[in-house]
Amino acid sequence: SGATLKNAFKNKFYIGTAMNLPQVHETDEKSVGIIKNQFSSIVAENCMKSMFLQPEEGKFFFDDADKFVAFGEKNKMFIIGHTLIWHSQLPNWFFVDKDGKDVSAEILKQRMKNHITTVVTRYKGRVKGWDVVNEAIMEDGSYRKSKFYEILGEEFIPLAFQYAQEADPNAELYYNDYNEWYPGKVQTVIKMVKNMKSRGIRVDGVGMQTHVGLDTPSINEYEKAIVDYASAGVKVNITEMEISALPSPWGTSANISDTVEYQAKMNPYTKGLPENVKAEWENRYLDFFRIFLKHQDKIRRVTLWGVTDAQSWKNDFPVKGRTDYPLLFDRNDQAKPVVKKIIQLTKEK
Ligand code: G3I
Repeated sequence: SGATLKNAFKNKFYIGTAMNLPQVHETDEKSVGIIKNQFSSIVAENCMKSMFLQPEEGKFFFDDADKFVAFGEKNKMFIIGHTLIWHSQLPNWFFVDKDGKDVSAEILKQRMKNHITTVVTRYKGRVKGWDVVNEAIMEDGSYRKSKFYEILGEEFIPLAFQYAQEADPNAELYYNDYNEWYPGKVQTVIKMVKNMKSRGIRVDGVGMQTHVGLDTPSINEYEKAIVDYASAGVKVNITEMEISALPSPWGTSANISDTVEYQAKMNPYTKGLPENVKAEWENRYLDFFRIFLKHQDKIRRVTLWGVTDAQSWKNDFPVKGRTDYPLLFDRNDQAKPVVKKIIQLTKEK
């Protein structure tokens, strides 16, 4: 009932959400109803990651991913595939040869190609955009020392894009990362994108995950990153957004982090957010959406990393068992007041 996010952003950019398994299987009916009403794009939170799609070499499991894609088609959504090449949630066999040693560069390329080709071909023309490579660059701009990098060097990234492009020439292809506003990371990602483009390898977008808190990043440094990425000649996707309302534990020394006092300090709002924090959190969302609207010519999609607070991975990260309030819908499947305010922003000139 009433105005929806999907309608409000119709002529601006796609507005999306991640879907977890109970949503893909449509057993969580309430949040599935929200997804159908409110969102124009979907991405799978987990079920299209390589450990689930290819748990054993050559043995693919597509049941969940098939359901996810069918749901998106049935509801006329812009369907995103997440993610083809990532060092995490990757099956153990991927880098290991018969003798338990690291595979050769040739074999790793073959495995990457086979995984990408099989998955992208299956959903050719239906999944409209792929996070081809996820989280390969560090905050200081160096390459993450993953097995992909150790065995193939920087080339593993262009190779992945090339394989994806060959499998579905019409799908949009993205590089996706977190802490995406760090200047060192921005510079290296831009360099990488330009390098691929100059070699005729298509890259359509950079994904800014946007797992943010109340204080970090500053809205100015975040906006600068949007502008900088777009200047490399790609679209910007906001791919995994949520705003944690909880204090960040980063920088706490390990020896105090197990104490009861510390756990309580890290999880202060188990009975709901105090009004002042709620207001701060709401304003923070509005600040981000103002920036998205201001740069709507650069932005293809804004995706939230889940529907309701109950489902958010932030309840268990970076401290386990917390009560966080990062998403747009509450634990009773109700839209928070901020949803109306975000919709209102789209009407301002
Ligand atoms: O599949 C097992 C299940 O069998 C088991 O019963 C259950 C018990 O904990 O765990 C299940 O695995 C969980 C998996 O999600 C699937 O639900 C893992 O414990 C859990 O750690 C894993 O977390 C996911 C995380 O990626 C893994 O790195 C989160 O749900 C997901 O939100 C998160 O998403 C990532 C993006 O893909 C990339 N960017 C960062 C983002 C947040 O970490």
